[in-house]
Amino acid sequence: MFVEKTAPLNIENLKKEIAAYTHQTLEVSDSLDKVLQFVELEHLYSAALEEISTKLRILDEDFQVKTAHNPIHHMERRVKKLPSLIQKLKRKGLELSADAAKANIYDIAGIRVICNYFDDIYTVERLLLQQSDVNLLRRKDYVESPKENGYKSLHLVVTVPLFLTDGVVETPVEVQLRTIGMDMWASLEHKLHYKSVKNTDDYHELLKECADDIANVESKMQRVHLDIQHDEK
Ligand code: GTP
Ligand code: MG
Repeated sequence: MFVEKTAPLNIENLKKEIAAYTHQTLEVSDSLDKVLQFVELEHLYSAALEEISTKLRILDEDFQVKTAHNPIHHMERRVKKLPSLIQKLKRKGLELSADAAKANIYDIAGIRVICNYFDDIYTVERLLLQQSDVNLLRRKDYVESPKENGYKSLHLVVTVPLFLTDGVVETPVEVQLRTIGMDMWASLEHKLHYKSVKNTDDYHELLKECADDIANVESKMQRVHLDIQHDEK
């Protein structure tokens, strides 16, 4: 099952963002050219997301048909909203252009795979990466080596070929794989960044504890799950 998070495209807002950043009123033709390139970008990354989503959905359905256990609990996907893409280009001090985005930003298309158990993350990774048209560009294993704040997830950037009217374009998609518990933790931790709370440090300590507790519980539950599965055979 996919929980859709589609980004609406608003060209007027995009023009305003670009004009504000460059502190000038852009020439109409220049502005239009930039906007059209971003529109094309949106199309490109939506298509890449569609390709990877389809691959994962086929695996999900195949597990349902053939196995007693499906490692995929659910998936969420999104194409980065244009204002947020522009913000990221600014943050990285990059030029506000579709070419700069293509060359430097790898999470324009993103999919999150929420798995039932810790081991499932690596099962899904293996099944995705063994596909001949999927190429691994980057891999960060925050499950094996959690971040200092307790964050755990496996991040992959894979490329998939898009067969377009003017040729083949290898396009990157960021795939984040995590367990239900890790997902619950990450959602709460993410919220903390947007709240101006007084005792941020206290919360960091508490959240780190939660991350460890969740990992503990999830590994115990996985043990039970594996035992049950073993007995069933
Ligand atoms: P940026 O994509 O520029 O942020 O840098 P990066 O690609 O080096 O980041 P990384 O691969 O480490 O993380 C990318 C994404 O993972 C973020 O946009 C978040 O969605 C998620 N993420 C990473 N670290 C954390 C964290 O500490 N807490 C939460 N809640 N999410 C995180
Ligand atoms: Mg990233």
